[in-house]
Amino acid sequence: MNPAEPSIVSIASLSKSYTNGFQALKSINLEIRKGEILALLGPNGAGKTTLISIICGLVNPSSGTVLVAGHDIQKDFLQSRKMIGLVPQELSVHAFETVLDTVNFTRGLFGKPPNPQYIETLLKSLTLWDKKDSMIMTLSGGMKRRVLIAKALAHEPKVLFLDEPTAGVDVELRKDMWKIVNNLRSSGVTIILTTHYIEEAEEIADRIGIMSKGDIILVEDKNILMRKLGKKQLTLSLLKPITKLPVALKKYKLELSSTGIELVYTYDTKNKENGITHLLDDLKKAKIHFVDLDTKQSSLEEIFVQLVQE
Ligand SMILES: Nc1ncnc2c1ncn2[C@@H]1O[C@H](COP(=O)(O)OP(=O)(O)OP(=O)(O)O)[C@@H](O)[C@H]1O
Ligand SMILES: [Mg+2]
Repeated sequence: MNPAEPSIVSIASLSKSYTNGFQALKSINLEIRKGEILALLGPNGAGKTTLISIICGLVNPSSGTVLVAGHDIQKDFLQSRKMIGLVPQELSVHAFETVLDTVNFTRGLFGKPPNPQYIETLLKSLTLWDKKDSMIMTLSGGMKRRVLIAKALAHEPKVLFLDEPTAGVDVELRKDMWKIVNNLRSSGVTIILTTHYIEEAEEIADRIGIMSKGDIILVEDKNILMRKLGKKQLTLSLLKPITKLPVALKKYKLELSSTGIELVYTYDTKNKENGITHLLDDLKKAKIHFVDLDTKQSSLEEIFVQLVQE
């Protein structure tokens, strides 16, 4: 993705206090890039659904502005809403309709003329074509979720919001969902998804945003974030304490514990040449023997928990 691409969604100083006085969003500033997959992470109650609901026009902001493809969501609601598809967190489908009817109906709601060819391609891409005449109540939970995605895409939106698309779905469907999201991105749709599965964000997102208590506390390119976090530590427990590191081991930038009995080597997991083999060889040459070893990695999960606690 080209970072020079203009934003498709521009959020400035957005805040929300609900009528009971609770401030769910503090002052959110966020630029969503055209064509990216942005994953929003955050604990329950962080404000993810509130943010999405404001952008989609379901909740009124208390202050601030949101532009979707240049259209102000308040002053120019219809134009901005047409650009957006939403798969809500809560499953809500009309049980007594067929798949095809509900999808066609949604398209009509947005004032788009019927396009049977587009709808057929859409339902096929979600492996729903065989079920097009089935009543929604007869479908499994996973199929219902796909119907929600089909509904969200019925009017050919440019931006798709998926609020916890894989909550409670099995591993296989989750992987299908990732494929669907990737294919959508390839077709030029910008995708914002929320998830509690950190490995999901790791798998499919281009950027990761972390929300906590109504704030976005970090937005970062996933690869940069992973590189920052991709550090691992190898701890060697020595047979006998040493007082000083041999010069031959200087290049490994080892840390020696104050007791002299533990050596810690920090390395980059993204680097295939992590130096462990050479280090162990050089330790042997220096006649430093160890009795045990242990590795520890700072995972995205750990960093996430730490950031959210701060
Ligand atoms: N209609 C409402 N009235 C008052 N408070 C609300 C309302 N809707 C949400 N809140 C509060 O706003 C905060 C943010 O809720 P929100 O649903 O945006 O969180 P979330 O990040 O989506 O959480 P989750 O991960 O559980 O879906 C919560 O404290 C919630 O209780
Ligand atoms: Mg939510």
